[in-house]
Amino acid sequence: MAIDLSQPLKFAYWVPNVSGGLVVSTIEQRTSWDFEYNKKLARIAENAGFEYALSQTRYAASYGADKQHEATSFSLALLGATEKLKVIAAVHPGMWQPGVLAKFIITADHISGGRAAVNIVSGWLKSEFTGFGLPWLEHDERYVRTEEFIRILRGLWTEQNFSQSGKYYNITDFTLNPPPVDVPGRPHPEVFFGGNSTAAQATAGRVADWYFSNGKDLEGFKENIAGVQASAADVGRHPRFGLNGFVIARDTEKEARETLREIVAKAHKPAVEGFRSAVQEAGASTKDGKGMWADSSFEDLIQYNDGFKTQLIGTPEQVAERIVEYKKIGVNLMLTCYLHFQEEVEAFGKDILPIVRELEADLARKAGLDFNVDNQIKAGV
Ligand SMILES: Cc1cc2nc3c(=O)[nH]c(=O)nc-3n(C[C@H](O)[C@H](O)[C@H](O)COP(=O)(O)O)c2cc1C
Repeated sequence: MAIDLSQPLKFAYWVPNVSGGLVVSTIEQRTSWDFEYNKKLARIAENAGFEYALSQTRYAASYGADKQHEATSFSLALLGATEKLKVIAAVHPGMWQPGVLAKFIITADHISGGRAAVNIVSGWLKSEFTGFGLPWLEHDERYVRTEEFIRILRGLWTEQNFSQSGKYYNITDFTLNPPPVDVPGRPHPEVFFGGNSTAAQATAGRVADWYFSNGKDLEGFKENIAGVQASAADVGRHPRFGLNGFVIARDTEKEARETLREIVAKAHKPAVEGFRSAVQEAGASTKDGKGMWADSSFEDLIQYNDGFKTQLIGTPEQVAERIVEYKKIGVNLMLTCYLHFQEEVEAFGKDILPIVRELEADLARKAGLDFNVDNQIKAGV
């Protein structure tokens, strides 16, 4: 798919709604999982130029996150505390009935003036499902259920008297009133999707508006999106792409690299090893062995979404340049995380974003295109 250089990159941050920050390390992290901290963070982020916040859904301790706030209620509260920020609530299909979630998100959308979104995650932490007495499906089967789930969300958000009968859910002649808020260019609340395996990519191509990738180097990202694009092309769709990256921007590159070394040196080894064994339930368990974390080293897993691989590490200029390299290969949205969220999100908006915008304008000019940060990618797919 052609890359539209006239469109500005979008930015998101991970909501730290679980304890322990975004790296499994005993290094100091001035980040808190509590609501007051997150409320202030969300306001800082929207003023700094972030368009989205992404919450995590977690019910039990993993990667050291032994305390968690539930994702949909937390996201709704953040929507209530902000004015522009779109908040993406992570949800597991196996934990929700899709009609109930569709209705919940419509209400959140009305409360927030059209800013609600979902990230559909198919699950890898088996004990959360078995502990709740829910079926734990085999890997690729989880994506069969996910696809049905997303088709129902979209159907209930856009159609009257909607019916769909499938292997996992049956919806009969149902109309949700009111429908979601009518936002120009957005047919319904946006559907993000996280997953790396072959089955995840194929499913995302068919039904997601946005595909989220774990952290990747440039080559890794290209490989990752190729599968999604192939599946999307078969059905004439054009999903967009988000990429995770852990940002360490410091005055000098040496300082930034030193910080990474300290994070790794202070890794919480038992928690990282516990995480490594739990994620065997993810793509590595499939026949082709491809999937999230399948090729992650111990060091990679310290940022539990492989955020070091994206290498957003160095001076603000270096980080901005690296971000624009990803734009050139098809990233539409950069999903970011930090050691000290409030300070670093603010600094990102002040020190890095202006450089990114200059570089983007330059790129567009060279391609003979007009670039304006108000250019908006249409949400329709
Ligand atoms: C950006 C992103 C966010 C995710 N958020 C969550 C989450 O909040 N909770 C969860 O259980 N899994 C989350 N996942 C994990 C995926 O849903 C999925 O289980 C994982 O990618 C393994 O899938 P695979 O085996 O198909 O590669 C996330 C993945 C990505 C890329």
